[in-house]
Amino acid sequence: MMTNRSTAAALHPALSSTSIGALRLSNRLVVAPMSRVSTAGDGVPTEAMRRYYAAFAEGGFGLVITEGTYPDLAHSQGYADQPGLATDAQAAAWRPIVDAVHAAGAKIIVQLMHAGALSQGNRHRGETIGPSAVQPKGEKLPEYGGSGPYATPRAMNEDDIRDVLDGFARAAVRARDVGFDGVELHAANGYLFDQFLTTYTNTRTDPYGGPVENRIRFAADAVRAMRGVVGSGLLIGTRVSQAKVNDFTYRWPGGAEDGKVIFAALRDAGADYLHVAGEGRGWRQGAQLPGGVSLTEIARHVGELPVIANGGLDDPALSARVIEGGHADLVSIGRGALANPDWPRRLAEGAPFEPFDRAMLHPYASIENVEQWRRSRAALG
Ligand SMILES: Cc1cc2nc3c(=O)[nH]c(=O)nc-3n(C[C@H](O)[C@H](O)[C@H](O)COP(=O)(O)O)c2cc1C
Repeated sequence: MMTNRSTAAALHPALSSTSIGALRLSNRLVVAPMSRVSTAGDGVPTEAMRRYYAAFAEGGFGLVITEGTYPDLAHSQGYADQPGLATDAQAAAWRPIVDAVHAAGAKIIVQLMHAGALSQGNRHRGETIGPSAVQPKGEKLPEYGGSGPYATPRAMNEDDIRDVLDGFARAAVRARDVGFDGVELHAANGYLFDQFLTTYTNTRTDPYGGPVENRIRFAADAVRAMRGVVGSGLLIGTRVSQAKVNDFTYRWPGGAEDGKVIFAALRDAGADYLHVAGEGRGWRQGAQLPGGVSLTEIARHVGELPVIANGGLDDPALSARVIEGGHADLVSIGRGALANPDWPRRLAEGAPFEPFDRAMLHPYASIENVEQWRRSRAALG
């Protein structure tokens, strides 16, 4: 019997429905968080952002995770033009975005991000904070308006730790009040919570430094702080990674054993899902360990929670293998979704995908830049 392309595609395992906690999702396809630096510098979400996020929902994604959003007006902001959830005005401007995504049938989670030592722009005249006074590797990201080396951060004291946790708790309340389905703690890719988890940026000798049980404590505390104020009324997810925007090669020194400690700590703190980012090298190299086992699979077994895999999973064969092989429950797609906001629809219909083009993010990784890129492509015919 002949199987046509669309019948074959319709059987793709990512197209089946699923749930995260009480949140019912029409499929397992998630838009990965992507910083879009598209506010007017005040951190207030815009109409262009509404169009941008609605397009993913209209294109069939079951879940949209927003770009990293700063929770407080102290040190958390990473980039000029990044959106915040730190003021009532910022919160109110998220509401049309949330409503547009819901109206198109998808769910939306806001990613809360503290940049820590990787901040390229905050209100404290450039002072950055981090677990220890260790200068970050690499250089500021030009596509978010940065240049030159990162500053050496001030080592956080107990008051700083408490202030950061308070900021996340307040932002979680705002997220719930504007109708987000959940929040995701950004503990990946080299930002503040990952700076605590990473051996070479955390030289603390208090309960937040030393063994991996201690280095994951701050992220777990943040989950607890948010859970303490929103109760069971809001999903709380966590995103972790081995690699970082400023160091693609870092791997957890204890490999799978570190993973078990990390995932168990986040589960015990009350996380509803675990998201493993594939920054730099993708799921294949970032999450697979020697012997074929993957970090995402370990997260599923240890965490006993839904797991989102990420990194190069806009390859339909690979995402099918990840889901069918028990490596993850959902897959998040970043660059492939930028090039194809209707990626799920294309998968279901067996339609071809547009390739991602780095020019979509250069010189500035904004929505305007992508729209400009599409206009010039259309003009070329
Ligand atoms: C333009 C851009 C912005 C990103 N911003 C974020 C972010 O705000 N938070 C985050 O956790 N990851 C961010 N990432 C990483 C992506 O979520 C994802 O992990 C990465 O692109 C790999 O997935 P992919 O191969 O599907 O693109 C960003 C990636 C891109 C390309």
